[in-house]
Formats: sequence, structure tokens, C-alpha cells
Amino acid sequence: MAPCLDLPYEIWDVTKEEDKIIKKCLLGYTKPFVKCGEKGYVMPGAFRNHAEAIYNLEVRPDDIWVITFPRSGTTWTQEMVWLIENDLDFETAKEKPLYERFPMLELTAQIPELAFQLIKNNFMNLKNFQGLNQATKVSSWKTIEDAPSPRLIKTHLPLSMLPPNLLSTAKVIYVARDPRDVAVSYYYLHKMVGNAFVRTTFQNFWEAFRRDLLPWTPIIEHTNEAWKQRHNENLHFIFYEEMIKDLPKIIHGVSKFLNRDLAEKEVNILADHLSFDNLRKNKTVNNSTNVNGEVQFIRKGEAGGWRSHFDAKMEMEAEEFITSKLRGLDIKYPSISSDKEGCSDV
Ligand code: A3P
Repeated sequence: MAPCLDLPYEIWDVTKEEDKIIKKCLLGYTKPFVKCGEKGYVMPGAFRNHAEAIYNLEVRPDDIWVITFPRSGTTWTQEMVWLIENDLDFETAKEKPLYERFPMLELTAQIPELAFQLIKNNFMNLKNFQGLNQATKVSSWKTIEDAPSPRLIKTHLPLSMLPPNLLSTAKVIYVARDPRDVAVSYYYLHKMVGNAFVRTTFQNFWEAFRRDLLPWTPIIEHTNEAWKQRHNENLHFIFYEEMIKDLPKIIHGVSKFLNRDLAEKEVNILADHLSFDNLRKNKTVNNSTNVNGEVQFIRKGEAGGWRSHFDAKMEMEAEEFITSKLRGLDIKYPSISSDKEGCSDV
């Protein structure tokens, strides 16, 4: 067994004022939220109990990890990777929920304490949502630690909070998306999980997002960590917007990266399975809770949909947010053209 490494980053409580802003958006958390490491990644307070075990998780050479900021196309990519790795076994894919085939590392730490208790006491049934029920019984990282190889692992944690030998040992796919579309999609995700856990307006949610106060923010720093590794032979970097534009091309790239080059015909069959309409109908993938039936986990599937949610003031704030965050970085988002004056849309 490998020696247990100390966490190389600090974890501290957010300020009272910040906690208030977060909890105005997200209900059901009783502990203060925390920030982690140099970039101050925000996590629910419960993450303190799991950070070290996650950092020390034994990475295996045949692991495949999908890493994203939430709402960036994770599920879409997971289903693609699972099928590529399992010889396009569409039958099993349609029988077994994606969250079991491709579990999430830090899920346990993400569940609001209130929901945790309600699920545990059988007062709240979220069995159709991401395996939340299971993650209240056994820590999600423990289930992954004990899983047989080959493992497929989903996480929203940035590279700096993951095992330090990850990129020298396993294959990693990172998916990035325009932060403005992520903000909108992230808001609807919380609404879907239950109105009991988010009672705020999109304006308040955006305010917390742009102030880097929602779980897993700051988003651009998160993406930049992976962007800096995009030439690493074990990391494959993709953009959601490129998946929208040319899915077969992305499937080709991912299958090549996984050393499972697919034939043209197979790529097209897989692209059809992964189309927005088909995935939306797919019950093992679109694991909506039905608590609030009108919002689905697989919701709109657009690039640029943020425009209908941002008023002029928010649009300016977004421009300022992106421009200041991108200053000094060389990330090139396909939907954002940066120039000396600021950011503009492509
Ligand atoms: P929207 O809410 O903007 O529609 P994640 O899996 O990381 O949570 O990402 C969810 C986002 O990916 C949602 O965005 C969802 O609709 C979108 N998505 C999932 N499958 C898709 C597909 N086949 N085509 C386009 N977008 C898809």
C-alpha cells in the first residue's frame, strides 16, 4: 500500500458573508462552505472529511477519468467513453444507469447535509439521481477504491486536488464549456434536484457564480489547469462547443486517444446514439429526478443559450468576468474571441 500523502493544499471556511451568499442560492447545507488551495476552489464543508482520501486514491494504469466543471458535457462524454470502452454494447448501456457504470468520485461530499439525513431516513427518495442514495451509505470514493478494474471515474475536482500521479498513470479526458452557458445550465440543475434546495433567482445565482462562490468554482482556473496539460499524452482536452459542432470528429479523437480506433460506420452509429434527442429519451443517462418534472438533466443542449438569460447588465458583468479571468492565460474558448480590448463572442 502506498504511504498516505498529506494534503498539499489548505482548506478553510469561507467568510460569513460569502457563506450567506452561497446559502442564499443553495439550501440544505448546515456546515459552512470551504475554499481549497491556491485558487480557492469552493466545496461543501463535508468535503473536509474526504479530501485526503481522494488525494490518496490509488490510481490504476487502466483507469479512465472524465474531468469537468459541472454542466460542461460530462454525461455526454461519459456515455461516449463507456461505449467506446465496452465495444459499443448498447444493450448494457440501456439497462444499467450511467452513474453505476461511471461513478462520481466526490459525490458523497456534494450532498447537502439536510438531503443526506432525509435520504438516510427514507424521507427523500433521489434514487434516480446520480446514485445519491448509495453515496449516503458508502462514501463514493470508497466504492471506487474497491471497484474492479478497469474503472471509469467521473469527477468535477480540478487536477490540483486529485492524486498527484494521475496524469503519469491513467488516461484523462477533460471537457470545457463556455462559462456563461455553464452558469445557466448549473442553475437549472439545482432547480431540477428540487426547489427545496434552490429558491433563488438566476440573477442571484449568477452573482454567486461570477464571484466564484458556487461549488467547484472558479471555473476558468479549473479549466486552465487542464488546458496547461493539453499536450500531455495522457490528457485529451475537448470543448463542449466542438462536440455540438462535429460530434463524429470528437468521437474519432477520443477513440484514438483510448487506442480503440473505431470504423467510420461505428462512429456514426455512436454519434446517433449520443444525439441530443436520443440521449434525452435514454433513461439510463438522462437521470432526471422527476421532483420537478419540467426541468430535465439533459435540458437544452445548445451553445450560446445563455443570451436569453442575461440582461444587459449581466452581459457586461460576464464580459468583465471573462476578460479579467483570461488575462495572462492562453486558453482559447471556441465561443469567445479574446483581444486586447476585452472578450467578444464568436
Ligand atoms: P444544458 O443545461 O445547457 O442543456 P453535465 O453532464 O456536465 O451536467 O452537462 C449537462 C449539459 O450537457 C446540459 O446542458 C445538457 O443538456 C448537455 N447535454 C447532454 N447531452 C447532450 C447532447 N447529446 N447534446 C448536446 N448537449 C447535451
